Amino acid sequence: MTEAPNPARMTPDPTAGLEGVVAATTRLSHVDGQNGVLILRGKRLEDLAGTISFEGAVRHLWQDLEIAGSDSLPAGFGQARIAAFQVVPLLEQAPPGLSVFERMQLGLAALPETNRPGDAATITGALPVLLAAAHRCAAGLPPLAPDSTLDTATDPLRMLTGVRPPQSHVEALNRYLVTILDHGLNASTFTARVIASTQADLKQAVLGAMGALSGPLHGGAPGPVLDMIDAIGHPDNATGWIGGALARKERLMGFGHRIYRTRDPRADVLKAGLKTLGADNPKVQLAERIETAALAALRTAKPDRPLETNVEFYTAVLLDAIGIDRSLFTPLFAAGRTAGWCAHALEQQRTGKLIRPSSRYVGPPAA
Ligand code: COA
Repeated sequence: MTEAPNPARMTPDPTAGLEGVVAATTRLSHVDGQNGVLILRGKRLEDLAGTISFEGAVRHLWQDLEIAGSDSLPAGFGQARIAAFQVVPLLEQAPPGLSVFERMQLGLAALPETNRPGDAATITGALPVLLAAAHRCAAGLPPLAPDSTLDTATDPLRMLTGVRPPQSHVEALNRYLVTILDHGLNASTFTARVIASTQADLKQAVLGAMGALSGPLHGGAPGPVLDMIDAIGHPDNATGWIGGALARKERLMGFGHRIYRTRDPRADVLKAGLKTLGADNPKVQLAERIETAALAALRTAKPDRPLETNVEFYTAVLLDAIGIDRSLFTPLFAAGRTAGWCAHALEQQRTGKLIRPSSRYVGPPAA
């Protein structure tokens, strides 16, 4: 099964951002944009999120890849967190201007070579400890050592604050991590597959994927979503603020998607997570009113282009509701998606085929 191939684009239009082009075969995940369905290795997202641990979801995703150690998760991730803590002094010595995301990339680059079977678990386990340590270093606080007995949704929250998190926060973060585990051939996953196709080290594929993720049109959107909610401030301001942004030709962060022509199912799964959190805080209510106003305004402004709520809108609302700082939204996205990137990278490497498309030359003819 492939991501909605567009027969009209079988000869790719180079200005169309490869829309509709099928560039990989995968058993990992499928995005059905017409029906608003995400399938993760044969299971609908709605049947996984909220019922399975992050480690269980990763085992499920990695099942066909025979990644060494994946049947011993979460213990394997716990050991990987302990190993990754060795590189944390490097994060402490980093130039002060470096962001949390860049410190994570620094720590990942400093890990030993990752081209042995099982290194997908080493890298996926490392990212949460690098995230927590990077955040504390950037804030001038001493990093906290990982606890290998805790799971992936608990230990990073504890390492960020020094306090064992409430169970409701752990469940919300677990739901988030499962929701963003994998998502077809999005820009960062494609990047990971391109790098892996050169038979580069696995961590290089993840480093490159992180770079692609960081942009505001991809994983960089949830921080600006929260900025928008804060700027609107009150439900009565929503319609006017949104109208002004659209009149200035700005994009509303957290809306629209390349593949989904109906609702992004991940947005619904995260919204449902807010209900189980019991989050009746005013910001959640404000966000819901903003969503309604934004969808109405987008339908008027772009009647021919279905623009619906995407994952990043409720990512921002959910992570904010459990006390995660907005500077950590994209780092957390990277930490969860790393399991998907590694799986795609390994799947791609096994084809043994270099990804090397062509370009259409429109420069001056040779003199
Ligand atoms: N707000 C306002 N207009 C939007 C929009 C948004 N969020 N998303 C798309 N549009 C408009 C574009 O301006 C464009 O209008 P035009 O044809 O008049 O120029 C039209 O819809 C098509 O946009 P395009 O960029 O070609 O579509 P795409 O499939 O490449 O875009 C996104 C997908 C995600 C990049 C885009 O919807 C977007 O920028 N969303 C906001 C960022 C975001 O939430 N990113 C997270 C994605 S999970």
